[in-house]
Amino acid sequence: MHAARSPSPSAAAVGLLVTLLAATAPAAPDAAPAPDRPHIIVILADDLGWDDVSFHGNDQIPTPNIDALAYHGIILNNHYTLPLCTPSRSALMTGKYPMRTGMQHNVILAPEPWGLPLEERLLPQRLRDLGYATHAVGKWHLGFFRREYTPIFRGFHSHFGYWNGHQDYYSHNVQASFAPFEGYDMRRNMSVATDAVGKYTTRLFTEEAVDRIRRHDARQPLFLYLAHLAVHAANYEVPLQAPAEAVARFAHIADPERRLYAAMVHELDLSVGAVLQALQERGMLQHSTVLFLSDNGAPTRGIHANRGSNWPFKGVKATPWEGGVRTPACIWSASLRAKHRVSNQMLHITDWLPTFYGLAGGNVSSLGRVDGVDVWRALDEAAPSPRREVLINLDDVSAYAALRLGNFKYVNGTSLLGFLDEWHARPEGPADPAYDVGAVLASPAARALRGALAAGAGAGPLDPHVVRVLREAARVQCAGPDPKAPRCRPRKRPCLFDVARDPCEERNLYTPQLGALFETRLAQLRAEAVAPRNKRGDKRADPARWGGVWSPWADGVHE
Ligand SMILES: *[C@@H]1O[C@H](CO)[C@@H](O)[C@H](O)[C@H]1NC(C)=O
Ligand SMILES: *[C@@H]1O[C@H](CO)[C@@H](O)[C@H](O)[C@H]1NC(C)=O
Ligand SMILES: *[C@@H]1O[C@H](CO)[C@@H](O)[C@H](O)[C@H]1NC(C)=O
Repeated sequence: MHAARSPSPSAAAVGLLVTLLAATAPAAPDAAPAPDRPHIIVILADDLGWDDVSFHGNDQIPTPNIDALAYHGIILNNHYTLPLCTPSRSALMTGKYPMRTGMQHNVILAPEPWGLPLEERLLPQRLRDLGYATHAVGKWHLGFFRREYTPIFRGFHSHFGYWNGHQDYYSHNVQASFAPFEGYDMRRNMSVATDAVGKYTTRLFTEEAVDRIRRHDARQPLFLYLAHLAVHAANYEVPLQAPAEAVARFAHIADPERRLYAAMVHELDLSVGAVLQALQERGMLQHSTVLFLSDNGAPTRGIHANRGSNWPFKGVKATPWEGGVRTPACIWSASLRAKHRVSNQMLHITDWLPTFYGLAGGNVSSLGRVDGVDVWRALDEAAPSPRREVLINLDDVSAYAALRLGNFKYVNGTSLLGFLDEWHARPEGPADPAYDVGAVLASPAARALRGALAAGAGAGPLDPHVVRVLREAARVQCAGPDPKAPRCRPRKRPCLFDVARDPCEERNLYTPQLGALFETRLAQLRAEAVAPRNKRGDKRADPARWGGVWSPWADGVHE
């Protein structure tokens, strides 16, 4: 079945299949005082591939908690991000395409003195202005060379986590990617959190998020930004790391690296379950909107490769192909009406800023020039997406530009000289894969969501049959290459694909006539672009000068 051509099961049809299982739901906790606006919970995975969640059809690594969230809510199967961490996170935080803020090229490398421009008002600042308590747990990667760039100066009431792009899952040391520098990177606000040493990062962040929820005064709306390290690779020597008991669950995976990777995904999945459970225990879940997404595709190959899979898409992290930018994503909210469905509405990571701002009671028209669109109504009503185009990216340093207009995607040039522009086979699975719907419906996430429903929120709980229907509808399959179609050589000539029919970008349709529309639009967008802010690494950043800790070196203050 072809995802784009197959009709998503309509809310009504699926609704018929939904049976009330309320009797099996745990009793709702004493209702917490309801805030006047929803709690907003964003769980951002790092470098998680399209096929690394089992709701997309992968039988090798079960993700029952993430799947439960997806099936109870909306599977966002047409959700785009930027191809790399820093650009994607800048877009989430500002609602703007990175080419407007100078964040379009590459990531912030550890010793580089730049960050997301201070004149930008970020999502946490905007929600804080509307009365939200704003807490960040996990990765930042939007600059720390001066303290003003770090989370608690950018609108978060608190932050527990790290400022760089990755770290060791136990020592929390960061080796710079291209410099001989290494240092510790775990902070509680501005203090060095030395008590974290030796504890697995994913679990630390989960405990912190759960603790934040438990201590939160539920009368105040909460914005919780949980940005996991998982499933990014750690430092070069030991890139894949997971607790032994998690690894032991995946004995059926022969490839030892993929087995480790599966355990990393499993720990991420447990985190989603624990967060939903904590929200439910506090009586907050029925007043929450929960978004789960990945910042970009998996780096199956290339720098910081993990063993993630973007199958069946072309390309990996850092590339403009669907495998780099079309990410697993789902959203659940008690108040969303058209739930239990697969959405092919075109969405972009910039959309969450206006969407959440509107949900929080803000005046979206007052946001000024943002690229994001408030998509809440379209999600709520299963109406066509108000978004007609997605600028995949415009990066004149890497020398590529990619734009989606309607169902068509245009790519001129490519990243990394085309070195990563390939399809990867699906990792070989166990001999007899069987998807365990029972485990999905018995997961902590499913129990928590049923509890929230029993407390009076939204549509009924899920039937196993609905789960199977949704999983089938969420699967993307491709026809395979067409030997008659002209090859795509994007460094010689632009390429064009109908990604609704050809999500694997195998049938190049480019002609100068068809390309002209895209080239005109790209020229308009390029006229609005600012120069990339990237700066060369600075020797003064070396943690050896700062007590072994990555610190805001340009401030010249020893923390
Ligand atoms: C820092 O952390 C503490 C405790 O987690 C919190 O209460 C405080 O408000 C935070 N923010 C700042 C800016 O210090
Ligand atoms: C929303 O903001 C716009 C632009 O600033 C303004 O014109 C409009 O009056 C505002 N609407 C409300 C209801 O405040
Ligand atoms: C493709 O991009 C290059 C620069 O990266 C530009 O010189 C060229 O004109 C573009 N091709 C088209 C057809 O616009």
